[in-house]
Order: sequence, then C-alpha cells, then structure tokens
Amino acid sequence: MKIVVTGSLGNISRPLIEFLVHQGHQVTVISSDRNKTSRIASMGAKAAIGSIADASFLENTFEGADAVFAMIPLDSTQEDLGVYMRQMAHNYVEAIRASEIKRVVILSGWAADLIEAENIEHIFGELDVSITFLRPAIFYTNFYQSMELIRGKGLMGKLLALRYYGISSLWNGKTGLLMGNYGGEDRVVFVAPEDIAIVAAEELIQLPDQRSIRYVGSEEMTCNEAAKIIGNAIGKPWLKWVLLSDKKMMQGFKMAKMPAKLASILTNMQAAIHSGKALENFHKNGAKMGHVKLSRFAAEFAQVYHRKS
Ligand SMILES: NC(=O)c1ccc[n+]([C@@H]2O[C@H](COP(=O)([O-])OP(=O)(O)OC[C@H]3O[C@@H](n4cnc5c(N)ncnc54)[C@H](OP(=O)(O)O)[C@@H]3O)[C@@H](O)[C@H]2O)c1
Repeated sequence: MKIVVTGSLGNISRPLIEFLVHQGHQVTVISSDRNKTSRIASMGAKAAIGSIADASFLENTFEGADAVFAMIPLDSTQEDLGVYMRQMAHNYVEAIRASEIKRVVILSGWAADLIEAENIEHIFGELDVSITFLRPAIFYTNFYQSMELIRGKGLMGKLLALRYYGISSLWNGKTGLLMGNYGGEDRVVFVAPEDIAIVAAEELIQLPDQRSIRYVGSEEMTCNEAAKIIGNAIGKPWLKWVLLSDKKMMQGFKMAKMPAKLASILTNMQAAIHSGKALENFHKNGAKMGHVKLSRFAAEFAQVYHRKS
C-alpha cells in the first residue's frame, strides 16, 4: 500500500515508519524539516517536506496514496490551541477529500470526548472514508519534559519547579512540563509511543466500513508508583510526584507566561485525569493495552538522564 505518515520522526511516527516499511509498504513521511530528508530515506521511506498548515502541500502529498496516518503535532506557541487544532483538522479534511485516500487513521487523544477544545474528531467525521480515531493515554515520553526538574530537586510538579528554577527555563514557548494538577496517588494509564505505533500500523492496512475508536494504553498505575519506577532507574528511589491544585497550576502557567487559553485547556485536561474521568473512559471503552512496561521506558530514560548529567 501507499501510506502517508505525518509526525515526521517523532515518538509515534518513527516506529510506525519502521513497521510499515518492514511490511513492504511504500511510505511517504511528512516533516517540516528539510534536514530530516536523508534520515527518512535511510529508513526506506520518502520524505515530503512541508507543513500541515499548508493545505495545498497536503493535497499534493496525498495524491495517489491509499491511506494516511494523520496527527496534529502540539504547537505550544499557539495563543488558542483549539483554533489551531480545528484549522489543521480542516486542512487534512480538504486534502483527503481531494485525494483517492480510502483509509484514515487519526491520532486523537484520551480527552477527546471530555475536553471540547481538544476534540477534532467531529471535523474528520465529515469525511466519507473509513476512519479510525486512536485515543492514546499519557505518553511515557512526557517524563523527558520533567528531566531537569527531577535532576534538580527530586520532585515532579510545575509550581515547585517554577519556584526553584525561575520561569523562563521551564516555559520557553516551545516546551513545558506536563505534570502538575494530577499526581500523587491518582491512578492513570500511561502508554509507550511504540504501542500506539503498533495499533496504528494494524489499523492502516484494514478497511473497515464504519468509524471506529480505539483507546490505547500500556500500563496502569498511580503517579507515585510511576515516580518510583523512574526514581529507581536513575538512582533516586525517593522520587515523588507532587500534586498541585488547579488554582496553583493556573498560577504557575500564568507566571510562566503561557497563553491563557492554552493554560486553561491544559489545566482542565489534567484535572480530568485527577478526577478519574480519563481512567473511567479507558475502562468503559475496552482500551487495548500494549506490551511496553514503564520499567522498560525507565531504563531508556535513565540512559538519557545519565548521558546529559
Ligand atoms: N503527550 C501525551 O501524553 C499525549 C496524549 C495523547 C495524545 N497526544 C498527541 O500526540 C501528538 C504528539 O505525538 P508525538 O509525541 O509522536 O509527536 P512528536 O514526537 O512531538 O513529533 C511530531 C513531529 O511533527 C513534526 N511537525 C511539527 N509541526 C509540524 C508541521 N506544522 N507540519 C509538519 N510536521 C510538523 C515535527 O518534526 P519535524 O521537525 O521533522 O517537522 C515533530 O517532531 C500530539 O498531537 C498530542 O496531542 C499526546
């Protein structure tokens, strides 16, 4: 099959490209970075360099393809994340309509039906093709965004970090911490991007008639259990995951000069994890659990942690 993969060599797309190329598919990879062309070629795929913000670029890239893995990378420089997400979703819809694509696998999120601003599924729902929405849990790779915090004080939690380190090092408009107003003894589902890639690869080559939704996770535990696994792997077994109130979370985002709407969306999303609604959704919808345990990710995390320190 001719398959277009968006998300460049990111956490999910890199293993997805590997699986698809290994299965003998012709894979075109969208990246906004020309420097990735040779790395993509060395994986046996073809690079299409451009932005998903450019609908005509998408239209050209989708020409002749059978299927697409469509994702909207998070852009934390956007004043209004909801407006950005909807615009990107419309770009995809326009380009898919103009193409012969019959199969679309969309990367959605665990909060799609809990937080309206994150819900782009109804926009893709306008398409008259076979669509699967993947709703993954909280990525293990989010821990990388807490690395400096863990290294410095042995605590996870934005506000403490803000207090200890000053705001600019933690929120520079491109990256931010992902932990805060959920944590402690909250039970959550984490997911390895490789496990999402396995499900995406499985889905892309099928052609079901109807719309479908698949929740994808890897392991369920409390946040403190997760902190312990990461802490043990890096030689800090006392590591704790600090739980902040929504109010403190918002104050922290404000101090960090995060756009107000984005801060509010992130706080609400994390509040839905803390309240247990996200977990309830997972169980209710028969989430597929993958094979990659947090302990395996923690070993990789520890290598990066020690390499950088
Ligand atoms: N983190 C979580 O817990 C979580 C949970 C549920 C869902 N999600 C969703 O997962 C997605 C992130 O997945 P990921 O971690 O695999 O992604 P990732 O590692 O951040 O990679 C995404 C890649 O997309 C490329 N890109 C960025 N902007 C682009 C643009 N305008 N046009 C074309 N390419 C662009 C970038 O590569 P180049 O520089 O090569 O262009 C970037 O590295 C987000 O949509 C997020 O909402 C995340």
